[in-house]
Amino acid sequence: MDKLLIKGGRRLSGTLKVSGAKNSALPILAGALLTDKSVVIGNVPHLHDVTTMIELLGCLGANVVIDEKMRVEVSANDLRELRAPYELVKTMRASFLVMGPLLAKYGRADVSLPGGCAIGARPVDQHLKGFEALGAEINVVDGYVSATAEHGLKGAEFTFDLVTVTGTENVIMAACLADGITRIHNAACEPEVVDLVEFLNAMGARISGHGTPNVEITGVTALAGCVFDVMPDRVETGTYLIAAAATGGRVRLDGARPDTLQAVLDKLIESGAELSLGDDWIELDMGGKRPLAVDITTAPYPMFPTDMQAQYLAMNAIAKGTSRVTETIFENRFMHVQEINRLGANIELVGPSTAIVHGVDSLKAAPVMATDLRASFSLVVAALVAVGETLIDRIYHIDRGYETIEEKLLQLGADVQRVSG
Ligand code: UD1
Repeated sequence: MDKLLIKGGRRLSGTLKVSGAKNSALPILAGALLTDKSVVIGNVPHLHDVTTMIELLGCLGANVVIDEKMRVEVSANDLRELRAPYELVKTMRASFLVMGPLLAKYGRADVSLPGGCAIGARPVDQHLKGFEALGAEINVVDGYVSATAEHGLKGAEFTFDLVTVTGTENVIMAACLADGITRIHNAACEPEVVDLVEFLNAMGARISGHGTPNVEITGVTALAGCVFDVMPDRVETGTYLIAAAATGGRVRLDGARPDTLQAVLDKLIESGAELSLGDDWIELDMGGKRPLAVDITTAPYPMFPTDMQAQYLAMNAIAKGTSRVTETIFENRFMHVQEINRLGANIELVGPSTAIVHGVDSLKAAPVMATDLRASFSLVVAALVAVGETLIDRIYHIDRGYETIEEKLLQLGADVQRVSG
């Protein structure tokens, strides 16, 4: 199992190109199942989760061709299987995103109940309620969700009980080919939902209101092919900004979308960073200063994203002052706290969803273990500032979501090495 060995103490400095967004590429790849025509998707990040989705499309019978620039061409005109197996869904919860497209196009889908990061219960009840509202019949048999709509899906009015990103994406995709108009309320407004809808509209779908809680979908009888580039990854962008800030360094990120990161940029300014922005780039300069402690509360977009909570908490661990970090999206998303404390941080968990972070002057290297995707990068942030060599175990979690992490860190001057075995 690969590990990362990081010698801390270097100030990050340099320029990086942001990768395509994982959380946008995954639903878009699933959305390619909605058409018989060929779809070409560009700016796809080279990540384990993307490979899993491509493997799943292949296993359903889609023809997938990937070129050297990670442009992925999907032709799903001859599917032989409408069943997404446990082996693929268990490693990645986003595999559940094939259900909406399969149900819309073929009136049937069997998808294993999902796995993915061990952060809370993460049910799919809202996805299923949405499909039922569109007229699907749902049964759960032997760990598989079996959905059928013999006479096709019908447009309907549906309100999510809570804001769910992939739930919104799944129900929008299902409604694309439904008969009539679907109105979804309390929809997720995340930029990745907007990116997916722009892709679907490029295929001829008729969707409006995306990026707001009220989305309207007028069903069409068939979708066409298209060429589409995935948006830049806002979580990767924010993560490298936080890493640079924690080390007192400076970084320029090219090919970014600053407009999708406002809540994080505001917090970085509060932490003492100087920021310059263009339409597609962000530069952060910490000027060698120690960050200031900043309170964080995660919430659905446009508020502070849960996917950057762990990294920010790691920076707060060495910040000047005490901060409160509150997680409102997932239970059990503080598994990194124990590991960061192993490096000498002083973080207290006060209840299941709040951490009080007493900033310490410095951290000291120790062996640590990654527990989930975003939490694992918080250990990288902590290791980059710790004195000595930190060995981070189980970095397969990082490889699920961060493209060429050691190359990018090396490019910023970090002392980092992947250790196999
Ligand atoms: C997506 C992102 C993930 C991010 C999360 C929240 C992808 C591939 N993943 O995950 O990186 O951390 O949004 O921004 O885009 N819930 C239910 N029932 C449901 C669905 C969700 O109770 O049917 C709950 C979840 O347990 C969680 C909350 O709703 O507490 C939000 O989850 P959701 O937005 O669905 O997360 P994902 O779409 O899985």
